[in-house]
Amino acid sequence: MSGRLAGRVALVTGGARGQGRAHALRLAEDGADIVVLDLCAPIDGVSYPLPTPADLDETVKLVEELDRRIVAVQADVRDLAALGEVVDTALDQFGRESMAPPMQAMHGLPIPWVEPRDIADAVAWLVSDEARYVTGVALPVDGGVTWPFKAPQLTAGG
Ligand SMILES: NC(=O)c1ccc[n+]([C@@H]2O[C@H](COP(=O)([O-])OP(=O)(O)OC[C@H]3O[C@@H](n4cnc5c(N)ncnc54)[C@H](O)[C@@H]3O)[C@@H](O)[C@H]2O)c1
Repeated sequence: MSGRLAGRVALVTGGARGQGRAHALRLAEDGADIVVLDLCAPIDGVSYPLPTPADLDETVKLVEELDRRIVAVQADVRDLAALGEVVDTALDQFGRESMAPPMQAMHGLPIPWVEPRDIADAVAWLVSDEARYVTGVALPVDGGVTWPFKAPQLTAGG
């Protein structure tokens, strides 16, 4: 475990399996605690089998095996009210301090600009082996100002 995400909390959607589970495990390996949500139910128009709550339980087990904490919620990412409840649950469980760095990206950090070092960190990752399959992307390093979802719980005084 690198520990570079120790003390941070990652909110991962669609984490019962596949990409979402892989992200949850990867971030837990780096020391993050995890909040994961997944619908775990069939979706109209999707013909292949979708995961069940047992798959979400498996994600929980795998994260806990990494000695990280995890909160798992069965919810629909299209339901803004449900997402707000997930944020509330996460704040209750982990506290505002640990949630603030990742979650404030949902609101726009209260900063006037990002530092050259922040851009350099992104460049360092993009040229690393970890980003070997990343090509031709626009990677915003903007403190969350372009993120469309605003988390009212994390606004000033909220
Ligand atoms: N698997 C890959 O190699 C790969 C690579 C690049 C991009 N992608 C893309 O990443 C996305 C996920 O791929 P995957 O292979 O993990 O798919 P998947 O079907 O295995 O997982 C998707 C997860 O999202 C959950 N989900 C779907 N709709 C939801 C909703 N409304 N609310 C909450 N949870 C919901 C499902 O229950 C499931 O657990 C897809 O858009 C895919 O095209 C996948």
